Amino acid sequence: RSENRITALNRVLDRVAKGDLSARYVSRTDPGDDIGRVAAAINRMLDQLSLTMDSLRHVSNDVAHDLRTPLTRLKTRIEPLLSRSDLPPDAAQDLELAEAEIDAIVSTFNAVLRIAQIEGGNDQVALAPVDLSQLCSTIHEMLSPVAEEMGHALTAACPNTPITVDGDREMLAQAIVNLVENAMRHCPAPAQIAMSVTGDSGIATIKICDTGPGIPEAERDKVLRRFYRLEESRNTEGSGLGLSLTAAIIRRHGGTMTLGDNAPGLCVTITLPTA
Ligand SMILES: Nc1ncnc2c1ncn2[C@@H]1O[C@H](COP(=O)(O)OP(=O)(O)OP(=O)(O)O)[C@@H](O)[C@H]1O
Ligand SMILES: [Mg+2]
Repeated sequence: RSENRITALNRVLDRVAKGDLSARYVSRTDPGDDIGRVAAAINRMLDQLSLTMDSLRHVSNDVAHDLRTPLTRLKTRIEPLLSRSDLPPDAAQDLELAEAEIDAIVSTFNAVLRIAQIEGGNDQVALAPVDLSQLCSTIHEMLSPVAEEMGHALTAACPNTPITVDGDREMLAQAIVNLVENAMRHCPAPAQIAMSVTGDSGIATIKICDTGPGIPEAERDKVLRRFYRLEESRNTEGSGLGLSLTAAIIRRHGGTMTLGDNAPGLCVTITLPTA
């Protein structure tokens, strides 16, 4: 019996280790012995940890929210200066750089808030039938010229028949675009980037695979965290929010996203329940 309880406790700790802070040890008939006391202490610790994580997340969301307004004000002050013709050339250049920096910070804050909104589940997800086959073709049309310009080849296997899921078209498009953009940005040219959509027994599968350097297995959980980027990406543009946003969108749609090895390269697989 105590063996069963230890197994159950272990399962809780495993879930916590995988990032699920809502896991708790529950037993209706737990005797108040040592194991029971340890289990209760672990539950209390997890309650505390969840609270701390929640407030941390709130702080960063509040910071993002509160700094957006003064930054927007700063931008509206710089803008009229930029159109003046009596500026020394170096001042004009500095002002343009400053404006670009402001835009970058504001879009980072927007992404942080967007993730929080989706994860908190308090946004309006407009659930409507979305045809993934068609979305696949649209995204391919939109991004293949960009890929080509960067020296990559973007191919897409989009079925001729509709594969429909219930969701928010814009969000799902954003999720797929983020992944294709990652492949274009994080793979040295020339890379093969392959996008595909398939549907089978109630499950739609979207794959985005590339022939770049991939993500080492030990890093695959971490890149899903906000702001986490691999060491080798420090010099590329970006803030490390794309994958967390994508993961939040897919979770919100009741789907899964896994990062795998394309040997060589990265293969991201998304599954979604079909409508
Ligand atoms: N296709 C890929 N191949 C190799 N590494 C990748 C790939 N996609 C993502 N990564 C790694 O994962 C990190 C996190 O990706 P993520 O999309 O979250 O952020 P980002 O692309 O750096 O910035 P952004 O916020 O603009 O998306 C990247 O910085 C990169 O190190
Ligand atoms: Mg990205």
